[in-house]
Amino acid sequence: MTERTSSACVVGLGTVGLPTAALLAQAGHAVCGAERDPARRAAIVHDDLVEPELTGIVRALVASGALAIADAPAPADVYVIAVSGTATDPWSALEAASRQVGAVAPPGALVLVESTVPVGGTARVAGWLGRDDLDVAHVPERGTPGAMLSELRHLPRVVGGLTPQATARAVAFVDGVLGDTVQPTDATSSELCKLVENAARDVAVALADEVASIAEAVGADAATVMRLANQHPRVDLLRPGTGAGGPCLPKDTHWLVDGAPTQAVLFRTARARNEARPAAVADRVVALAAEVDGPVACLGVTYKPDVADARGSTAAEVVRQLQARLPGRVRVADPWLGAGDGRVGVAEAIDGAAVVVILVAHTAFATLALPAGAVIVDVPGVRA
Ligand SMILES: NC(=O)c1ccc[n+]([C@@H]2O[C@H](COP(=O)([O-])OP(=O)(O)OC[C@H]3O[C@@H](n4cnc5c(N)ncnc54)[C@H](O)[C@@H]3O)[C@@H](O)[C@H]2O)c1
Repeated sequence: MTERTSSACVVGLGTVGLPTAALLAQAGHAVCGAERDPARRAAIVHDDLVEPELTGIVRALVASGALAIADAPAPADVYVIAVSGTATDPWSALEAASRQVGAVAPPGALVLVESTVPVGGTARVAGWLGRDDLDVAHVPERGTPGAMLSELRHLPRVVGGLTPQATARAVAFVDGVLGDTVQPTDATSSELCKLVENAARDVAVALADEVASIAEAVGADAATVMRLANQHPRVDLLRPGTGAGGPCLPKDTHWLVDGAPTQAVLFRTARARNEARPAAVADRVVALAAEVDGPVACLGVTYKPDVADARGSTAAEVVRQLQARLPGRVRVADPWLGAGDGRVGVAEAIDGAAVVVILVAHTAFATLALPAGAVIVDVPGVRA
């Protein structure tokens, strides 16, 4: 068997697993994608996926037989586990997937854990596999929804095996297919590196929001202060926002803090700050809305700009709080999600609005014509 042209089984065909399976199939591996959720299996074949490029690629690979979709893992030379845990339950999905793989993997198979895991997670996977004849490595990814396919292909990738042999095999498998430059290390370093990357971004978000809060409190314009501060060659503040949500940052920071409660003081503080941020934004809007009559238009409910993805969105949390505190006044729109599910179109939302609250820095909001006379709350400073 050569790692370059083997059979592969990707377990979990979500945001990360599906493009991973597609790239492996394109590279010539015979790929089985195992997905336990029937609705997701149907969507993969029949619906438009979040990334338009991926939709066409997956359809073609499935039609040609290069990518087979199944409901459970099948025998393969290499497994890629890409299931996800939650902040409070890191393990259930990973344990179930690992036990399934352990039951069907042929002797000598390579098992790659693409999931983000708390430190020690790769060793736990090895325990759940229940086998001493498999090589196991952690191969976290850094892709972002909306650009997952190209980022999986081209970003440098850290690979950390439980043994030097597992690391070497994982590097050979991943290199050039799931990452341009592969950095070998051990499993613990790889696990910690992935958590630190996301937790560091959580801290950066908290810092930007704190600067914005201070600017507001002292009567300065946050966007101006941040733009000027960023002219310093060694300062790089992010835009302010509604906190940090999405599928990864909150849970990864929680896992990092839980694993090192004594050391992770700054990370814990940043997470608490980010969790308090939606309420702070809502407080500000409620205070401004009390000064005027009329609708309050909330623009943007995705978890980050320019994607149709609202998982764990803190902008959506701000909207929920405003709907509770300003009953009957709140209109919601997001050009990336469209109307429906309580949302209207952007033009309808802002028509005659007394307050317009921009919650997400969608590019389209930078030049959107807003109603004259409305109070504008540009939380991310997208129009500055
Ligand atoms: N989405 C991101 O932007 C992103 C970025 C970096 C890292 N990650 C990490 O990658 C991992 C996967 O994230 P995701 O966003 O793709 O998750 P996801 O929830 O989109 O997909 C996981 C999929 O796995 C399926 N699944 C769970 N258990 C299964 C099993 N035993 N057999 C078959 N299918 C099973 C689920 O039904 C789901 O479709 C997570 O650890 C996440 O933290 C995600």
